Amino acid sequence: MKILVTGGLGFIGSHTVVELLEEDYEVVVVDDLSNSSIEVVDSIKEITGKEIKFYEADVCDLDALEKIFSEQKIDAVMHFAGYKAVGESVREPIMYYENNLVSTLHLCKKMLEHDCNKFIFSSSATVYGDPEVLPITEDCKVGGTTNPYGTTKLMIERILADIHVAHPEFTAIILRYFNPIGAHKSGLIGERPNGIPNNLMPYIVRVASGELEILSVFGDDYDTPDGTGVRDYIHVVDLAKGHLSALKKAIKDEGLFYYNLGTGKGYSVLDLVKNFEKVNKVKVPYKIVDRRPGDIAACYADPSKALKELGWKAELGLEDMMRDSYNFILKQSEK
Ligand code: UFG
Repeated sequence: MKILVTGGLGFIGSHTVVELLEEDYEVVVVDDLSNSSIEVVDSIKEITGKEIKFYEADVCDLDALEKIFSEQKIDAVMHFAGYKAVGESVREPIMYYENNLVSTLHLCKKMLEHDCNKFIFSSSATVYGDPEVLPITEDCKVGGTTNPYGTTKLMIERILADIHVAHPEFTAIILRYFNPIGAHKSGLIGERPNGIPNNLMPYIVRVASGELEILSVFGDDYDTPDGTGVRDYIHVVDLAKGHLSALKKAIKDEGLFYYNLGTGKGYSVLDLVKNFEKVNKVKVPYKIVDRRPGDIAACYADPSKALKELGWKAELGLEDMMRDSYNFILKQSEK
């Protein structure tokens, strides 16, 4: 079975490619290298001993997609490619709407033309906005996104639902990720944001490695146990495995399905800092600053639907996430 993975050299895409290869799927990757590196192709080979077929192209490029679909007989698509920085999306809304929506539309168009009708989509817990109840189930109200990035995810979910109505054989599985962190245990692939990181974990590792001076904790007056923001952090390898479970469902059942991919456990910013220091035996200096606009107090999943219907649950704990995130950065700095 041949799977097209868009954004397959990025953080979550590359970990999913590894899991696909480990289970003997054939993998075709399309990636424009805008937020990834070509070296990841070699790292994937080093981890798995297997080759991927790689196309350097922008998923918005219809001609490039036509070439891929006519050269390869693709059975299913996993769509990771997309812009994902919240702050940048506020400054560059047109760029975000254009890239994230056009790439998905073009991909779906080519899939239908080539009789490929299994689609796994990287959505986000951001579609729930500020949740009314915790933990969040898939039936919770969606909407109230606070930035263009989040709105692109919500719009794409709607687009996929409409395509499914018009083409019932087009099966879409929408995976709503909580907060993916960690890295492959080999230390060969992981998250490498360009510039100063926006997200908590990449920031912590750079403070620990001495590249950045101090972590700013955005607010300690939230209605949470220690006042700092609570999130559902999930190890990227668990998340990648969730995609394989979703793929098996898409192969078996026709339909439109939504799943939360989270652990169901919420940890605060300070929980992460303390756990990171303990596991890696390093100091992470921090200071409390004002809240970051648009942040919510707490967000964590009810992941029971994914367990019931996909047979998937997160296996790795916070300590694994802390150890593997730091191991990746240390391995990178050895290079
Ligand atoms: N935080 C800090 N300091 C930092 C960075 C983050 O204190 O330097 C705090 C935030 O205030 C928040 C927590 O750490 O309480 C997590 O923040 P992240 O930026 O790592 O993650 P978010 O939950 O804000 O964002 C994630 C994804 C987005 C997605 C969003 C909503 O990165 O893609 O969840 O689902 F839109």
